[in-house]
Amino acid sequence: MARLPLLAGNWKMNLDHVEATGVVQKLAWSLADYHYDKEKAEAAVIVPFTDIRTVQLLIEGDKLPIAYGAQDVSVHDAGAYTGEVDAQMLAKLSCAYVTVGHSERREYHGETDEIINAKAKKVIEYGMTPIICVGEKLEIRREGTHVPFVLAQIDGVLAGLTAEQVGALVIAYEPVWAIGTGEVATPADAQEVCGAIRVRVSELLGADAAAKVRIQYGGSVKSSNVVDIMAQPDVDGALVGGAALDPAEFARIVTYYAR
Ligand code: 13P
Repeated sequence: MARLPLLAGNWKMNLDHVEATGVVQKLAWSLADYHYDKEKAEAAVIVPFTDIRTVQLLIEGDKLPIAYGAQDVSVHDAGAYTGEVDAQMLAKLSCAYVTVGHSERREYHGETDEIINAKAKKVIEYGMTPIICVGEKLEIRREGTHVPFVLAQIDGVLAGLTAEQVGALVIAYEPVWAIGTGEVATPADAQEVCGAIRVRVSELLGADAAAKVRIQYGGSVKSSNVVDIMAQPDVDGALVGGAALDPAEFARIVTYYAR
């Protein structure tokens, strides 16, 4: 079964809504320059909350072939939760994707697998697709226990979801030691963990969910390394940080299949 690769740019806390307009326009032009084919790969931008409305109006107004989404969501529905943004608000802005459990949320905001699982359920409840992030820190990698560590995260973040729900979502494997460090996992490192995640999904939810779920690699992905990473059988896309802030570079990453 062919899985459509998803190349998503996680802008993190960068680009205000005015800058976002310029970057999305340039991304659309660059994708056109590279003869982007949306049958071959899906392009998405995952932007700060304050950019979403602007990005929505631009993408819908100009019918740009770019999906968009948010970087986090509340576990709660509307109510007295100062500073939070709920899933219904994001659905109303027609977000396609919401990343949950990014390592920076785990590290700086104390997010656990249980919280991430609750967030993923909210995203699904409101008709959007969660991109659920997992990945080990350097100590775990050095100990050589990264595969069981990540599989335990998978068990936690997918708890209580159905096979159909898991088949439709996205998992991003992002080894923390490779994020923003320029230290990229080798294609074999990415395949080892992404392959193990797919086997675990098969054990937990069956072969059909495992065949459908899209698994991304993230961590220092650039146009110069994306082709080899995407050649791995269980890697179905990339979650790109720094390189996604440069629209021409991100367009080269999205159109990796042409190189
Ligand atoms: P970098 O591509 O900057 O390493 O960031 C990866 C990441 O965290 C994407 O979510």
